Formats: sequence, C-alpha cells, structure tokens
Amino acid sequence: MRQTKSHIAVIFGASGDLTRRMLIPALFNLHKQKLLQHPYAILGVSRTSMSDEVFREKMKEFLPVDETTNDFINHLHYEPIETSTGNEYIKLKERIETIREQNTIPSNILFYLSTPPKMYSVIPKFLASVGLNDEKDGFKRIIIEKPFGNNFNSARQLNLDLLKYFGEKQIYRIDHYLGKETVQNLLVLRFANSLWEPLWNHKYIDHVQITSAEKLGVEKRGGYYDQSGALRDMVQNHLLQLVGLVAMEPPTVIGADAIRNEMLKVFQSIRPLKRDKLQGNVVRGQYTSSKIKGEPIKGYREEVGVPPPSRTETFAALKLHIDNWRWSGIPFYLRTGKKLPARVTEIVIHFRPTPHHLFDSAYGATNIPNQLIIRIQPDEGILLKMGLKQPGSGFNVKTVNLDFHYSDMAETYLPTAYERLLLDGINGDATLYARGDNVEKAWEIVQPILDEWDENPDFPLHGYPAGSWGPRAADELIAEEESGWRYPCKNLSNDGEYCEL
Ligand code: BG6
Repeated sequence: MRQTKSHIAVIFGASGDLTRRMLIPALFNLHKQKLLQHPYAILGVSRTSMSDEVFREKMKEFLPVDETTNDFINHLHYEPIETSTGNEYIKLKERIETIREQNTIPSNILFYLSTPPKMYSVIPKFLASVGLNDEKDGFKRIIIEKPFGNNFNSARQLNLDLLKYFGEKQIYRIDHYLGKETVQNLLVLRFANSLWEPLWNHKYIDHVQITSAEKLGVEKRGGYYDQSGALRDMVQNHLLQLVGLVAMEPPTVIGADAIRNEMLKVFQSIRPLKRDKLQGNVVRGQYTSSKIKGEPIKGYREEVGVPPPSRTETFAALKLHIDNWRWSGIPFYLRTGKKLPARVTEIVIHFRPTPHHLFDSAYGATNIPNQLIIRIQPDEGILLKMGLKQPGSGFNVKTVNLDFHYSDMAETYLPTAYERLLLDGINGDATLYARGDNVEKAWEIVQPILDEWDENPDFPLHGYPAGSWGPRAADELIAEEESGWRYPCKNLSNDGEYCEL
C-alpha cells in the first residue's frame, strides 16, 4: 500500500461508536504500518465537551497497547463544536490552522462524516462557508458514511446538496463492503485469470446466489433499524455492490471511473421490478422468539427501541435479472437477514450441468454441477466444487472441494475495510467508493419494493424463528433451482443445513 501525503483527518461524530470501534483503530493500524506520512494529525469533532487529553484516553481504550500506541495517541486532537451552527465553523477553521502550523502540515484535509445522516448536507455547507472546500492549497475531501439517503428521492437530494459545495471528485461515499479484502479479490479472481472469462456468462452459468447472513440481531440499534430494515440496510448498498462486481464487464483499467462506469452499466441493466409482480420475486421476513440450545431468544418486536407492531423486515430475499448480453436469462438470488444461524457472506456461482450425463445414477452418481464459492467472510477464501472419480470399481462420481483459505497464506494480514478505505480516501483513490449516479441507481432498483411494502399492508411479512435460515417463502423463491440455497457453515468447505456454526 502506498504512503499518504501529510494531512489532517477531521472526524465529525468523534464521540460516536463508529469512531472508537472502527475509524480510530483503522488509523492506528495505518500508523503502525507506517502508511501515514508524518507529520499528520487527527482532529475529532463533536458536540460533547472534552479536552484533547480526555479524547486521547477514551480512544486509547479501544486500541491494543504496544510500543506505537502512545506515539499514535499524540496525533489525536479534539474540538467541541455545535455542528449545526454556522459560526462555529470559524472556530473549527482556526483550530485546524493552529494544528497545521504547530505541526507544519500542508493544507490537505480529509473530512469524515460519521454523524447522524441529517447532518450530511449541513456540515458540507458550513465547511464551504468558511472556505474549507477550497483546494487551492491542498486537497479537501469529504467521506460520507451510510446511509446515503433513505430512498431514491432523498439520495438524489443529498447528491444535489453535496454538489453545491464539493465537486464529485472530492466526495467519497463509503460502502464498507467495497473495502473488504475479499470483495476486492473478486476483481482479481475474475480479471487476473483467463480461466473464468469464457465461462462467466449465461452459456455456462446457471444462476448466482449471494448470501449475507448475520448471527446477531439488531442489538442496541433497534431505533435506527426499525426505520431502515434489511432492504435499506444491506441490499440497496452492500449486496448490490456485490452484484455489480460479479456481473460487470472487464473495465479498461483499474481506476475509479472505469470500474464505476462498469458498475453503473450493471445497475442500469437490472430488470426493473414491477410492484404488481413482486410476490414470488421478493420475500420479507422478521425474526420471532425462539430457543437456541435451550436458551430463550427474543423476537424482533421485543428488542429495545422496536415498537411492538413493527412490520420492519429483518430478512429480505429477492430474485433479480440482468438484461444484457452476458447475463440474459440468469437469475441472481440475494438474501440477507439478522438472527440467522451463522455470520457468513458469500457468493455462489452455480455452473450449468454437463450437456450429457455420462456417469448417471447407474454409477451411484448424481450429476452435481460445479459450484464456485467466493467466501467474503469468515474463513475468507475460494472453493470450487467438482466431480471426481471415487476410487475403486466402476465410475462413481464424488463431489470434492478444491479450496483456498486466505488463512493458509504465509504472513496473511487482512486489513480491515475501514483501513483500506481511509487510506484510499487520503490518497485520493475513489475506486472503492460509490459514485453519486451509482448510489441513485441502486436506490431506483429497490424503490418499487420499498413503495409496495410501505403502501400495501397485505404484502406478506413472514415470521422466522431466530436462529433459522429465514422464512420458508425464501426457499420457495429459489424453488426452480434444483440446488436450492447453499447453507453455508463456519468453515468454507462445509455446507448443508446442519453444520458446525
Ligand atoms: C452495516 C449494517 O452496514 O453492515 C449493519 O448497517 C450490518 O446492520 C453490517 O450488521 C454488516 O457488516 P459486516 O461487515 O459485519 O458484514
């Protein structure tokens, strides 16, 4: 990874959870790897009143202690401001200037908005009002956390608001899935190997499954989650980004414009969902109370912050088609949910069966088509399932696994998504950030579902017991595929409805 330019990272929402759990630890890891060019500074900003020392101590609690911790902590500063008041930004600008002068840092500034979404158009306006968007003396970039809008209209409005004060090239919309090492590996797997390209189309692929399962429920985020639901929280962003990477055409180069152009083309080719055709193509579910290993587990409606009559979905599954030359007729099945049996994200490419079944059931064989499994997390890796001869008489075919686990690589260090994305943001590389038009298009894809769910109280919401693989209706959604869903286990190379979790 390339070292950054000397800069100040200004984090809005510095007293929040994301800052201490993700952002500061990610910056610490970059510091440890000597990827942050000295001198540099990190300035935390939020409304809570706190000194630099208190901020440093608070952040330290979330960092491992080693010989670099204190050195890193000394780069942290803190400024309390009332972020919704324009005049306060004069104070912020002065503080930035003081830190810059004291540390001889050029005027390169990365702003990170880790605040409630309602501030996403307010803060940029006030930054611009004091000239903190001006790139005359150095870069000024702004990273926007998710959710980027709550629907198509609000996302479009947010883009318009941001573009009044910052150019598209200064805006970095984060989708932390794109920062995951294994998600980026999809590009390498597809485009650094000549093996796949001839097969990567409707002639050889039967269907594609993308699963992002979570074992946890909504935990303490019931209030937020109930306004969101699985479709907004996971499908509109993370899962559609995965669809984009699996389905896109080879970009001309690995660069922000080339890759994001190809992603956009995929989104533009997704067959628009019609509200009157959603049943059978879209399933929503909500976890209900159950017992796991004898322990009672709360249902979603009993979670803190969730109103008891809530109809918010904690599970969503959908079937999409991409109407283009490569993917014509090939279904993409997506599913995500909370309180499922395991935390697993993976993409399964189901290849077509051989055209003629030589080794039929007379040899005890089932003609199991090949599957390529790209495991995003955990046990990150790649698995290819193929038929080989069972040793002994006859021609019995057995499905075997060719598997690669990242953990087998010597000296594997998988940087966290935030580490990679922050570094790219500081380096001005937007390849792994979502472009405004892509985000809007992704909202447009799910908007008919959101509208139907909002406006049609009769659209089924299926309960599923916490700890199960979601509602039965999700199995019906994929019923036309002989394989059904793959039930992933903790270990990449295992599957089946019953496995070690
Ligand atoms: C976030 C969602 O964007 O992604 C969370 O808001 C979800 O609800 C999380 O738990 C999943 O991310 P990961 O990296 O744990 O798969």
